[in-house]
Amino acid sequence: MTRTPTSHFGVLLVGSGSATPSQVISNDQLGKRVDTSDEWIKSRTGIAQRRVISNHETLHGLSAKAAQKAMSMANWEPEDIDLLVLATSTPDDLFGSATQVQAELGAKNAVAFDLTAACSGFLFAMITVSQFLRTGSMKRALVIGADQLSRWVDWDDRRSCVLFGDGAGAIAMELSKEEDGLIGFKMRSDGARGSCLNLNNNEDFEELVDGTVFQKGGFSPIRMNGQEVYKFAVREVPAILESLLNTNNVKPKELDWLLLHQANQRILDAVAERFSIPSEKVLSNLARYGNTSAATIPLMLDEGVKDGRIKPGDLIASSGFGAGLSWGAALFRWHGHN
Ligand code: UT7
Repeated sequence: MTRTPTSHFGVLLVGSGSATPSQVISNDQLGKRVDTSDEWIKSRTGIAQRRVISNHETLHGLSAKAAQKAMSMANWEPEDIDLLVLATSTPDDLFGSATQVQAELGAKNAVAFDLTAACSGFLFAMITVSQFLRTGSMKRALVIGADQLSRWVDWDDRRSCVLFGDGAGAIAMELSKEEDGLIGFKMRSDGARGSCLNLNNNEDFEELVDGTVFQKGGFSPIRMNGQEVYKFAVREVPAILESLLNTNNVKPKELDWLLLHQANQRILDAVAERFSIPSEKVLSNLARYGNTSAATIPLMLDEGVKDGRIKPGDLIASSGFGAGLSWGAALFRWHGHN
């Protein structure tokens, strides 16, 4: 799907928020569990620590905190919200956690649902939500990216457990009849290559009655072929970004920020190098959070907004990529609160 929308309604990014778990696990601490080292993890990934949800916290609780902050920045009341989309692959409730967040916020007029697209989830959700706003059928929406992969990581598999962490980030988006902050987007999926990163159901069948069987619910830990995912990312992310920039007649040097899914510093560096984007324009907080899946982009965006690096009007190229396989890119301007 590569069409740039042409409706005369625009969308604006007017608020951001984030929330992270209180537990911090350093590389050295992980070294007490698996055969790894701070030196290996930092040099191969850029990650120094990650955060993990404890028994005092929940995924929907963190999501609500992040959304609350985005809502406050936008100066909205809970009743103002028409739509709430939670991008997550790890809901507290398989029927959906967006409604749990809606209840916690008191956003009683919002329709709320989950969207699953792994590490591309936030970007896919932002684009999905923008379609509702562009038609004029909805005015104010919260887009949340949150994941608790710590539930499904095999903490004894050093090849994957060092990468992931938990977190939540959110943005507030509204319809505008004057301006358009979402300049363009592209989205891709390729299920044929999906077997390099999976979080599958257990193959656990039990007898029901009279020789019939049922599949007992539960998931196997994350399985990942790191090298394949790495190759996919460094090939497809530059390709989709290049195509997005060309379609919208934007030169890489016009970008204020490159905001990629935070999976590995080496992937960030490779993409930046491909477009000759200087490292000061490449947003990265991998060192502190690792890969928080659907949360990485809004978590990083919120950090940049809060510390004053990202200013109103800044042009941002973003790309999410991961399991599915799925990947996408969006070109947008941060609007901020008027
Ligand atoms: O959202 C998308 C999620 N997934 C990703 O983004 C993953 C993308 N892939 C990657 O980031 C990298 O492939 C990894 C960081 C996962 C691995 O880095 P690599 O440079 O591709 O390492 P490798 O898999 O080629 O392994 C090199 C060596 C191996 O040892 P031998 O066989 O050469 O003796 C591994 O066993 O490093 C070993 N190794 C480790 N050693 C210490 C693998 N993991 C570890 C570890 N600590 N944690």
